[in-house]
Amino acid sequence: MRDEVLSAQPSDLDEWVDRQGLRPRRLADFIGQGDIKRHLNIVCRAARAREEPVCHQLFAGPPGLGKTTLAGIVAAEMGASISVTSGPALERAGDLAAILTKLSDGDVLFIDEIHRLNRAVEEVLYPAMEDFRVDIVLGKGPAARTIPLQLTRFTLVAATTRTALITGPLRDRFGLVSRLDYYPPDDLEIIVLRSADILDVDITTAAAGEIARRSRGTPRIANRLLSLVRDFALVEGDGKVDEVSAGEALETFGIDERGLDRQDRSILRAVCVGFGGGPVGLSTLAISVSEPAETVEDVYEPFLIQQGLLMRTPRGRVALPAAWEHLGLVAPDPAGRSLFD
Ligand SMILES: Nc1ncnc2c1ncn2[C@@H]1O[C@H](COP(=O)(O)OP(=O)(O)OP(=O)(O)O)[C@@H](O)[C@H]1O
Ligand SMILES: [Mg+2]
Repeated sequence: MRDEVLSAQPSDLDEWVDRQGLRPRRLADFIGQGDIKRHLNIVCRAARAREEPVCHQLFAGPPGLGKTTLAGIVAAEMGASISVTSGPALERAGDLAAILTKLSDGDVLFIDEIHRLNRAVEEVLYPAMEDFRVDIVLGKGPAARTIPLQLTRFTLVAATTRTALITGPLRDRFGLVSRLDYYPPDDLEIIVLRSADILDVDITTAAAGEIARRSRGTPRIANRLLSLVRDFALVEGDGKVDEVSAGEALETFGIDERGLDRQDRSILRAVCVGFGGGPVGLSTLAISVSEPAETVEDVYEPFLIQQGLLMRTPRGRVALPAAWEHLGLVAPDPAGRSLFD
């Protein structure tokens, strides 16, 4: 439970967040990512003026930055209904064809984790995205016939944590590809203050800043830390959240001043101590911290890399000087001798 609370991965807590009304519903409530908001505003307004569905869109970026939220916002801004599915849920071409044929004019179809679509399903998407058409194949072998079926005009909104895994032909069919970046602390502070306001938490701006700085650049984590800090203030204090109680709370839950949690630190420690600073292969590293390789690669590494703590090289992962320093270790000298204690 503890790791689930602190990691950027989705969990049941997201439902809680939704129930509390923390997820922004409209573009105007969505904080940060200024360029993306501007682009969305332009394409949505233009499409509305032309009375057409907005272009197909792909949102890419690490977990918890707002891809699903933006998919909902695109639908809301267009006044459209949204159907939700995901790459792994669409096993056969027929699964996708069945969903596509049920859409009404202008609907948004949201496919999460689109990088996990299999080939056969992906091929159904090409004519659907380009010409609003699915080709139904009747029969098998030489006698098979293809019957084109016209679909209503819809918008595909897709999300991925792995742009590199999206094939060229698929990527080219999106009218707009938006890459979400980690949020600067200033934006996260506004997100924390907004959430605190909705949740009726008595919090100082300095405390919101403290939470923001330790949120790994990720709104999902900012909301989770806010809820932990609120609990801490209620149980160990008078319910009010100030900078001191926020800092104490975060320390208690193992979030350090850089926002790294226990698992981030064990990954760094494994590279530094277990493998002499690297290079160490992803699968070996993942086994040593008991996480699936995909989770290490998608959830933990992007932030550690962005922070200049870890580097991906062709030979494996390498700890950078800042990682040694952060762990209070001394990096090996250039001759390769390990000097840490
Ligand atoms: N810009 C934002 N402003 C305010 N809250 C945000 C913002 N972006 C995300 N959030 C909050 O963070 C949480 C995570 O966002 P979301 O579920 O959209 O992330 P995601 O990118 O889809 O993650 P995943 O890759 O795990 O599916 C949401 O509950 C939402 O409330
Ligand atoms: Mg999502």
